[in-house]
Amino acid sequence: MLTLFLTWGVMMMLCGSLWYVLGVRKRRPREPPLENGILPYFGYALQFGANPLKFLRERQKKHGPTFTCQLAGKYVHFLTDPFSYHAVLQQGRHLDWKKFHFATSAKAFGHGSIDPNDGFTTENMQQTFTRTLQGNALTFLSEAMMENLHYVMVEPSAEKMNSNDWVTDKLYEFCCRVMFESGFLTLFGTEFNTHHDKVLSSNQQAQRARILRVLENFKEFDQIFPALVAGLPIHLFKNAYSAREKLAEALLHENLKKRENISELISLRMYLNDTLSTFDDMEKAKTHLAVLWASQANTIPATFWTSFYLIRNPSAMKAATEEAHRVLENAGEKICSSRKPISLNRKQLDDMPILDSIIKEALRLSSASMTVRVAKENFTLQLGSDSYNIRKDDIIALYPQLLHFDPEIYPDPMTFKFDRYLGENGEEKTFYRNGRKLKYYYMPFGTGLAKCPGRLFAINEIKQFLTLLLFYFEVELIDKNVKCPSLDQSRAGLGVLQPTNDIDFKYRLKLP
Ligand code: HEM
Repeated sequence: MLTLFLTWGVMMMLCGSLWYVLGVRKRRPREPPLENGILPYFGYALQFGANPLKFLRERQKKHGPTFTCQLAGKYVHFLTDPFSYHAVLQQGRHLDWKKFHFATSAKAFGHGSIDPNDGFTTENMQQTFTRTLQGNALTFLSEAMMENLHYVMVEPSAEKMNSNDWVTDKLYEFCCRVMFESGFLTLFGTEFNTHHDKVLSSNQQAQRARILRVLENFKEFDQIFPALVAGLPIHLFKNAYSAREKLAEALLHENLKKRENISELISLRMYLNDTLSTFDDMEKAKTHLAVLWASQANTIPATFWTSFYLIRNPSAMKAATEEAHRVLENAGEKICSSRKPISLNRKQLDDMPILDSIIKEALRLSSASMTVRVAKENFTLQLGSDSYNIRKDDIIALYPQLLHFDPEIYPDPMTFKFDRYLGENGEEKTFYRNGRKLKYYYMPFGTGLAKCPGRLFAINEIKQFLTLLLFYFEVELIDKNVKCPSLDQSRAGLGVLQPTNDIDFKYRLKLP
C-alpha cells in the first residue's frame, strides 16, 4: 500500500500549487490529443503511478505517439516516438530543465534554493559536477574507489574466512553495504588515523560502524524520497525526518574537516559553499547530502541488477571472467594475496567491452528515469512533419523505458542478453526502428543538458565491483533457477528501480 501511495506520489512532483484552479481543459486546434482523466485535478495520476509503462502503452495505442494527460493538476505532453526526442532536447529556447531540478532538490533535501537567479548562491553546480566527476578528476576518483572497494570487500573476507567456507548473504544487502561504504569513503574521505593499515585497527572498525549507521539513516530517508519529490512535507515522516537531519549533521563542514582524502568534488563544493553562498551550516550540509544521494541511490540497485544477471547467466559469467583476466594480465597484475590491492587504470577499465555490455543490458532492464522539461512560453513544437501548440507551464515528458522495452528496437526485450550491446570489433552497436537508425536508444542516465554528470564514474564503480568479485570470489545463487525479482514501481520516473525482493546467494574466497 505504501508503495502504491508513494508511486502515485511521484506524479505529484509534477504538481504546482495546490490552489491550482480546478478546471477541465479543452483541446485547442493543433494541440496533441488530450485526456483530462477521471478525477478532477488529479486526472490520471493514480493510474499513471500504479504502472507508468502500461498506462503509456494504452494511450499510445489509442492516440498515436504524442498525447497529453492531466496528472496532478499539470498537463503533461508525452512524446513516445524516439525519433521525436531530439526535437525536445534541442528546444532550449522554449523549454526549461533547471527550475524543475532545482526545486525538486530543495524540496527533498531541505536546502535553500540553488538556483543562482534566487540569490542564495552564485555557484554553477553543473560546472562543478562536470569538472570534478569527469576528465582528470575521474582518474583520481576511480583509483580511490578501487582501493576502497578492496578495503571494504576483500580484506574483511580474507581476515574472517577460510577459503573453503561458503558465506550466505542477501545479494541486495551485500551490494548496498559494499557500494555505500566504498562510495562514501571515495567521495567524503576517511576519518583521520584510519588510513588503510594491513590489519583492521580499532579506529577502522569504529569508522566502519559509523558509516553503517549513516547507511541506516540513508535507507530510512531514501524510502520516502519519492514522497518528498512528490511534494509531501517531510514532517509527515518522523523517522525519515530525523534520519535526514542526522545525515546532514554528519556532513557539516566542521565534521568533514576532520576527514582526509576527500574527493575534489566535495572539497570544491565545500569551498564554493563557503565563498559563493549565503547558506547556513545545515543548508550547506544538505547540499552535500544531495550529492551523497545522487551518488548512491541509483548505483546501489544498478550494482545489484548487474551482479544478479551476471551470476545467473553462465555464458555471461564465463565471458566476463575471461575478459577480466585478460585485462589483469595485460596490466601486469597478479592476484597473489588479498592484502595487496590490484590496480587497474582508466584505460584498462575502458578496455572491457563485455562488462560494458553486461552493465548496459542490466540498466536497460531496470531503469525508469523520466526526462522532464517545462514550457517557458506558448510555442509550437515541430516534430518532423507534425507540429503541436504547447502552452506556457505545460510539461513535456519522455519516458525512455518505453524504448528500452520496445521489441522492434530490442528483440525479446524482457530477456537479459549479455552481448546485446557488443558491436563488431569493439565498435558501438547501432539500433534501428522501422529500418531507421536511432540516435536515442539507451537513456538510463537521462540525456541532453541534464544528463547525469556521474555516469562515467558510476560505470567504473560497477565494473570495479564486478572485477573484484570475479578475481577474489566464487559466487553462486542458492537457488540457481530463482525467479527474477519484479521491479518496484515506487521510484518509477526517478532512476534505477529496486527489486521487490532480495536474493539469497553464497560466496567464498578463491585465493591461491
Ligand atoms: C547507475 C548509476 C546512476 C544512474 C542510473 C544515474 C542517473 C541519473 C539521472 C537519470 C539523472 C538526472 C538526469 C536528468 O534529469 O535528465 C542524474 C543526475 C545526477 N547524477 Fe547520476 N546516476 C548514477 C550515478 C551517479 C553517480 C555515481 C554520481 C556521482 C556523484 C551521480 C551524480 C549525479 C548528479 C550530481 C546529478 C544531478 C545533475 C544536475 O542536476 O545537473 N550520479 N543521474
